[in-house]
Amino acid sequence: MSTDLPTIELATGSLIPQLGLGVWQADDEDTERAVRFAIGTAGYRHIDTAAAYGNEAAVGRGIAASGVDRSEIFVTTKLWNADHGRARTLAAIDASLERLGLDHVDLYLIHWPLQDTDRMIETWQTMIEIQASGKATSIGVSNFEPHHLAAIVDATGQPPAVDQIELHPRLAQRELREFCGERGIAVEAWSPLGGSGSGWGADSSPNTLLTDPTLTGIAERHSRSTAQVMIRWHLQNGVIVIPKSVHDDRIAQNIDVLDFELNAADMDAIATLDTGARIGGHPDELNLGAPD
Ligand code: A2P
Repeated sequence: MSTDLPTIELATGSLIPQLGLGVWQADDEDTERAVRFAIGTAGYRHIDTAAAYGNEAAVGRGIAASGVDRSEIFVTTKLWNADHGRARTLAAIDASLERLGLDHVDLYLIHWPLQDTDRMIETWQTMIEIQASGKATSIGVSNFEPHHLAAIVDATGQPPAVDQIELHPRLAQRELREFCGERGIAVEAWSPLGGSGSGWGADSSPNTLLTDPTLTGIAERHSRSTAQVMIRWHLQNGVIVIPKSVHDDRIAQNIDVLDFELNAADMDAIATLDTGARIGGHPDELNLGAPD
């Protein structure tokens, strides 16, 4: 399997593999096995987890069992909302590293913005300290809208390396991608295939993107799956993509996307699917796990 994954250079100069494995909603057993298979067999070099997923220890065990040197693997985890504020943030990165069994992560993200802007800025200042300490090579955010990004950049002068946002063909996030692009902030997509049909602030409708006729039509023309078409769409848009699966065949299929290309007509057809429909809640409406 290929490990010649395309990379994106982050503002820190670090290279992030543009395609990684997501493990949200995967239990310990599935996570450990999926991570070991993804890295050890399928050729992945990038794993995306979070303190809130409850599976950091399993990710660590999967990495250790993969047989691939830690230095070749890009690991992301995220700070949960209850851990905003300086003291809690400093404790949270140590707890995440302890669970992962690692001495540093490659990317540490603030999982969600807070409505309490002062507290969110305090957290970002602490993330900058964490980066300086070497416990995180790069730091970034998730689910930040332009006004959240502006608040932390205005206060500290340091933009996040990454903004990880809900992004799939129904929510193409053109404006936010443009905003980030102009500021050197790399964009990562969560629920890049349209999600699992359940989650934070989500409605419980099933994933209908995987069977969308526009996507299945394109997939048939390329003799590929709809998941592979969506992954190509993200890659060709310059987005970092972390499809989640705990099934070996899908994990392997999702990285087998480097030898075909969507043409302009395909990309235009996928653009028509952008209705702005979200799977998760809007970041301005959710205040998950915030203290008080
Ligand atoms: P599973 O883990 O059972 O394979 P997301 O958009 O958040 O990455 O979610 C993808 C969802 O689609 C997951 O629930 C995953 O479930 C499923 N999935 C992942 N890869 C594929 C694939 N290649 N084909 C079909 N379903 C997939």
